[in-house]
Parts: sequence; C-alpha cells; structure tokens
Amino acid sequence: MTKHRIGVVGAGAIGQLIFQQLSTSTSPLPNKLSVQLICRESESQQQTLFFTNINHAVQHKMITVLGQHTPKIKKLDVIIVCVKAYQVDDLIDALLPTLAQNCHIILLHNGMGPHISLARKLSDYPQMGLSLATTSQGALRSAKWQITHTGIGQTTLGHYSGLALKQPLKEAILEAIPNASWHDHILSALWQKLVINCAINPLTAFYQCKNGQLANDEYKAEITQIITECIIVAKADNVELDDLACHELVYQVITLTSNNLSSMYQDIYHQRQTEIDYISGYIVARGTHHNINVPANTLNLQRIKSLETKYQQ
Ligand code: PAF
Repeated sequence: MTKHRIGVVGAGAIGQLIFQQLSTSTSPLPNKLSVQLICRESESQQQTLFFTNINHAVQHKMITVLGQHTPKIKKLDVIIVCVKAYQVDDLIDALLPTLAQNCHIILLHNGMGPHISLARKLSDYPQMGLSLATTSQGALRSAKWQITHTGIGQTTLGHYSGLALKQPLKEAILEAIPNASWHDHILSALWQKLVINCAINPLTAFYQCKNGQLANDEYKAEITQIITECIIVAKADNVELDDLACHELVYQVITLTSNNLSSMYQDIYHQRQTEIDYISGYIVARGTHHNINVPANTLNLQRIKSLETKYQQ
C-alpha cells in the first residue's frame, strides 16, 4: 500500500489543528496518510499534544515533533506550510534544498504575498508544484502544545504554479480536513479572505474591540471604503470580486465571529509582529503597482505599523 507522506510545517494553532485532522483521518481511501508535524526548532522532540475538539472532548497523544533539519523531510510528498506570512520566505529558503525533488508545497496563512516570490523560486525546481490554501476554521492555542478547535469553517485549496498536486494526495487531504474543497481559481478565494481580513483585523486591533463591535454604524463608512479599494485593486490584478457579495461576506464573518478577538488584535495585545504587511500592506503594494490610491488601507497600514513600533523599538 502506498503511503502519502505529508509534513505539516509550523506548530501554531492552525498547524496543530491541520496536523490533528490529517493524522486522525478515518479516510476509507486505500492509500493511507503518514503525517508528521515539523517545527522551526532544529532538534526533533517528543511531545504530548492536547487537543480539545469542537464538542469540548479532550484528546491527547504523544508524538515526535520533527525539527526542520530532519533527514525525514526528504521523504515527504507534500508539505503544508502553516507559519505566519512573514515567516514563509526564510522558512522556504531553509527547507527547499532539503525537500524531495518532486515535493509539493501548500501555503496556508492569513494575508497574501509570499506565493509570488515562492513561485519564482520554484521555477528552478521543475518537478515541484505550489498550491495555496485558506481556512476559516478557528483554533486557539492556550499552551505551546495545547489547542482548542473553536470554530467550524471552510478550508479552500487550489493550484497556483508548477506541477499539480497528485490526485490521490489531493483526495486524501480533502477527505481528512472537514469542509475542505478544491477551488479552480484559488486566487479569487484568497482575495475574498483578504477582503475580510482587511476589513476586520486592523480595525479591531486599532479600536481594541471584538469582531462583533464592527457591526455598529460608526464603522460602516470605513469598512465600505476598505472593501471598495480592495475590489478595485483585485480587478487590476485580474480578479473580479462582487461588491455586494464582499459586503455580505464581511458582515457575515463579523456576526459569526462576534465574540472573537481577531488574530491582529491578539498580536498587538501580546506585542507580537502582526501580518499587516500581507493584509492592508498587500493592497497598498498592489495599489502602488497599478497606480491606484488606497487611502483607507494605507491609513490602516500606518496605524498598525505605529502600534507595532511602540513595542518593537
Ligand atoms: O485573522 C482573524 O482573526 C480571522 O481571519 C478573522 C476571519 C478575521 C476572524 O477573526
């Protein structure tokens, strides 16, 4: 029986969640999965992972978390990279020389940007391929190896460049991750998620509020302006987004996650680097590229940068 060897790189909340879902898959597919969790530390380590599922049941299991220099990386058919957008470049530079010649890479993070330089790098690796993914599943990490699945959501994956992900692997991954689907135009799906992040993340971080507060009328004009700018820039990037659908989606997420503190709120609260360069910053960069002014997104980029500067000095 051929085993599909998958490495989940990044042991944050989403990395551990995806690892958990893939490694406990009861997929009836004949080709079973062998799943490894890989962290940024250089040494492999034994760890007990605690996982609270969506029904509050706690499971735990002892696993070997592989260090990123493990020779086992060479055997992987696919790696799912679940690190923050600003960590992707350095991580891939470190991993690329050690991966199998035909390894497939899937990027899964908030925001957009790293796929462009990665696709360029992969042109030197003709047997590799790149897929992109986005998820609205919620996971919270309460301790390093302890996560809770806090929200059921869609996970969307799709091909971006190079060789396509092999069909049996694709099927096995889609089968293992709940509500996962393949999207033929993955950039549209990523742009839709980007619009949501541009509207919710910087505003909640700046106004220090829960997602639900953004439903109040006082934020309406700002949110409308952010969405409008995103749609114009997306169009210049050949991605058509529907204005009404984007508004509905943003307010749907605000309502569905009304009690949540957005990831950017949490990053600012804990004085961590945020993903602003890959959220509002991506709109500003693509806007500059196309000569389009995006004042609302520029303001959000500046707001979050100045909050970060206060603790990064
Ligand atoms: O980054 C986040 O927090 C999430 O992507 C979202 C959808 C804004 C909900 O909090």
